Amino acid sequence: MAELKQDSPDEVLCSCSGTTRGMIEELVRQGKDLDGISRYSGALSGCGGCEWDIGELVKALTAALPATTPPALDQPE
Ligand code: FES
Repeated sequence: MAELKQDSPDEVLCSCSGTTRGMIEELVRQGKDLDGISRYSGALSGCGGCEWDIGELVKALTAALPATTPPALDQPE
């Protein structure tokens, strides 16, 4: 049986919901926070055993995202 490599996108981080690392990475790229990830995937809403791992992953991914500059507001004339 092939062993699943740690840090693989297919690594299941929440066994209650089956949420994978890849799914969390995609949700963070879409701008979702922990609440959004939980609502969308079901992660963090069962036993809570994944809370630390997912929290740390989201923190690291969020810190690695390029900073976005808010669009300039139209200036009144
Ligand atoms: S492992 Fe994620 S809620 Fe149980």
